[in-house]
Amino acid sequence: MPDTLTIKDNRTGKTYDVKITDDTIKATDLRQIKVHDEDFGMMTYDPAFMNTASCRSSITFIDGDKGILEYRGIPIEQLAEKSTYLETAYLLLNGTLPNKAQLDEWKNEITMHTILNVNLQALIDSFRYDAHPMGRLISTMAALGTFYPEAKNIFDPVCRQKQIVRIIAKIITIAGFNYRRSIGMPYSYPDNDLSYPGNFLNMMFKMTESKYKVSPALERALDILFILHADHEQNCSTSTMRVVGSSQADPYSSVAGAATALYGPLHGGANEAVIHMLNEIGSTRNIPAYIEKVKAGEGKLMGFGHRVYKNYDPRARIIKRAAYDVFEVTGKNPLLDIALELEKIALEDDYFVKRKLYPNVDFYSGLIYQALDIPMEMFTVMFAIPRVSGWLAQWQEMLNDPDQKISRPRQIYTGARKLDYVPIGKR
Ligand code: SDX
Repeated sequence: MPDTLTIKDNRTGKTYDVKITDDTIKATDLRQIKVHDEDFGMMTYDPAFMNTASCRSSITFIDGDKGILEYRGIPIEQLAEKSTYLETAYLLLNGTLPNKAQLDEWKNEITMHTILNVNLQALIDSFRYDAHPMGRLISTMAALGTFYPEAKNIFDPVCRQKQIVRIIAKIITIAGFNYRRSIGMPYSYPDNDLSYPGNFLNMMFKMTESKYKVSPALERALDILFILHADHEQNCSTSTMRVVGSSQADPYSSVAGAATALYGPLHGGANEAVIHMLNEIGSTRNIPAYIEKVKAGEGKLMGFGHRVYKNYDPRARIIKRAAYDVFEVTGKNPLLDIALELEKIALEDDYFVKRKLYPNVDFYSGLIYQALDIPMEMFTVMFAIPRVSGWLAQWQEMLNDPDQKISRPRQIYTGARKLDYVPIGKR
């Protein structure tokens, strides 16, 4: 049987054979379907892109029904157990795991680029003390690009790689410096002896001691969180990275755009919203009433549900386990009992079961960040830090994809037509 779709337009009686590739049809192949020759031709209508593939990608595979997530074909469970965030970032960007020499060089590259141009500190110092960390991150990232005008040479692989290194390296410094300024503390500068997660904790929490001492358990838990958040195929912020990048904007501006999309409470802002929700619930005895409110449509169960996963988000399972390792060191987060009971009740309730709503990556991550003394307003920053590797890997794949060009969707026009201008005296 041929790999084609035969479409019959009952308005005209005509039939069309459209090629099927990878279980999809090219939307532009529908344009031949017309009633009159002068018609524009048929389009698909897909608000929020519920059923539209925007690209071909070999970076991340998700099977939402089976709860499978793989980076470059490697199951997330194996990477979380055996890899590090920087090694995983290399994998996402280059397609294969690095050998020892490649990994050592990559780690050295990142370590040697964590310092920020001191003039950027003037911007960081200019924010109000209570400016939201995501607003700070987005603004500082966009400004960072102004220090590297050569970043516009996006088709020069050497120049592009240098910007990729700078963004991955400097985002932890941007996050740390903005945090320190928001609490009125002097900056804690990068320490090249520390790991990537360890250096981040150093730039957040080092006080007057000569050298910041990293807790290995907390450093490892943070590394796992960074691995789990590094990429997730065509989510809202990654799609934004691809759309902004498709106009050939520089990577710093594209990352700032992607981070802006991540800021929303339905996306990366959910981890912060989960903690607000758990605090609002306050005690396990209040859970049934809260669940009833959600079922009555008065709000969502934050950290639950997913556009793709209609099963347990594999990352949530791993984070839940990592939380216990963290609490061994920090003491248990009192909100954990509420979270566990809320998950239990929700997964037994037909409203959530019918809608296939399970805990997602954001449900337990905030409990760990809180145990690490990271302020709630910074939780989405904690998502953005590792996600820049995924954004940059997807952006680079888009630049090298011959199918891609500037993104510009169509619309179904529903407004008025051919009206005359009405002078103000006659309105
Ligand atoms: C991330 O895409 C990605 O990959 C994202 C991400 C990544 O790594 O990049 O995985 C990270 O963003 C995770 C999601 C974090 N967001 C939240 O936890 C916020 C709460 N979740 C929802 O807002 C929602 O589940 C979404 C936004 C995540 C997904 O929404 P969809 O796919 O558009 O589903 P929907 O809103 O159409 O919901 C279908 C039904 C609706 O009910 P009915 O209209 O059928 O009666 O399920 C209900 C929704 O009201 N529903 C929920 C719910 N999520 C969906 N009801 C209660 N609580 C929820 N959390």
